[in-house]
Amino acid sequence: MKLADYKATLSFSNGSPSVEMPVYHGSIGPDVIDIRKLYAQTDMFTYDPGFLSTASCQSAITYIDGDKGELLYRGYPIEQLATKCDYLDTCYLLLNGELPSESQRTDFHQLVTKHTMVNEQMQFFLRGFRRDAHPMAVLTGLVGALSAFYHDSTDINNPHHREIAAIRLIAKMPTLVAMAYKYGIGQPYMYPRNDLSYAGNFLRMMFGTPCEDYKVNPVLERALDRIFILHADHEQNASTSTVRLCGSSGTNPFAAIAAGVACLWGPSHGGANEACLNMLEEIQASGGVAKVGEFMEKVKDKNSGVKLMGFGHRVYKNYDPRAKLMQETCNEVLAELGLENDPLFALAKKLEKIALEDDYFVQRKLYPNVDFYSGIVQRAIGIPVSLFTGIFALARTVGWIAQLNEMLADPEYKIG
Ligand code: SDX
Repeated sequence: MKLADYKATLSFSNGSPSVEMPVYHGSIGPDVIDIRKLYAQTDMFTYDPGFLSTASCQSAITYIDGDKGELLYRGYPIEQLATKCDYLDTCYLLLNGELPSESQRTDFHQLVTKHTMVNEQMQFFLRGFRRDAHPMAVLTGLVGALSAFYHDSTDINNPHHREIAAIRLIAKMPTLVAMAYKYGIGQPYMYPRNDLSYAGNFLRMMFGTPCEDYKVNPVLERALDRIFILHADHEQNASTSTVRLCGSSGTNPFAAIAAGVACLWGPSHGGANEACLNMLEEIQASGGVAKVGEFMEKVKDKNSGVKLMGFGHRVYKNYDPRAKLMQETCNEVLAELGLENDPLFALAKKLEKIALEDDYFVQRKLYPNVDFYSGIVQRAIGIPVSLFTGIFALARTVGWIAQLNEMLADPEYKIG
């Protein structure tokens, strides 16, 4: 932030003395009023539930322009990264601020690959869960449990320790998500393979068995890698704010990320992709496209409590750029699998068309968000609905840890 050459003055109509506050320019986006001294100067608080007008921190990682429907990771538009880079390149960018050189890329990929195994004790932690436990409950536990293995060797004030914790979390999340899945279906865990890509390794740990070799489908591998990129970070959303607040106490990074997993589970946030697919399946079961009109009437009736899941956003008041890329990925995957006529995809496109022409949605600037199509792609790949948010958590781990490490490296940070 750079100090502006003008200040903000807060004056009161009851004659109380007015207060001057510094104003700062961000490198991009709106100016900010520094209210840190407001309570000391006025004995008054600001009130802003949901932080709709409040920046809780300064960050150089991600920028969203909700009106333009723009999303930048370290200044790069998401469209460029999703088409020209892979997920580990994007991880390197989010963590370090620049895309890797060829040698940095090779080193980073190897470093992550070498940390994909988890301690053998972790499998016994899983046994405490019922087989039908929701994967997000299992994952919240598993990520928290990771801290037990590294707590004594993680000094969050040591930049090298912070970097290792980031590598461990990015590397181990796919292994943990696949273990939660295998545990639920009663199949043996698959150990990671160092000769596969990040996404390919995850596909094999999910769908491979010890009984035969697993061949990675390159179209599904690329689609999954893109899904990871699109979910990697998103400014100060609910789960990232949770990770920052939790981490501000100086707690173990694994415990802070576990808090982020727990927050992401909510249906208004990361749980929306699971809720969206369940919504599409319910409409399909009740009559499909013929029932869309009736369903939309319910959505528009405030008393129904029914929302069009996968639509709307706390920031985007234009099309979520990730939704466009997700729809393209949907087309590619369904074509590859010969599912072009997937009824849920047809239903989703019909719902989107009707919503974008309906005054209720147009007036409220409600557009498809990242969750609207991601469930259809994941379902086509074979990922169970209950694991969709687990995939989101896997992908968002790099954003959470990059934001946590940025906060810990900021000498100005305070406990929340
Ligand atoms: C994610 O924060 C992030 O960045 C999150 C995320 C990320 O990458 O981390 O982008 C991921 O969480 C995407 C959002 C996933 N959630 C859903 O798809 C659930 C359905 N969406 C809604 O619950 C809602 O849109 C929210 C929670 C996402 C946003 O809620 P807001 O900020 O309250 O929405 P708003 O202020 O823009 O609402 C304006 C109006 C309201 O009605 P009125 O009071 O003006 O009459 O639109 C209504 C809302 O009730 N509305 C909806 C709606 N979303 C908002 N009506 C029907 N269906 C919807 N989906």
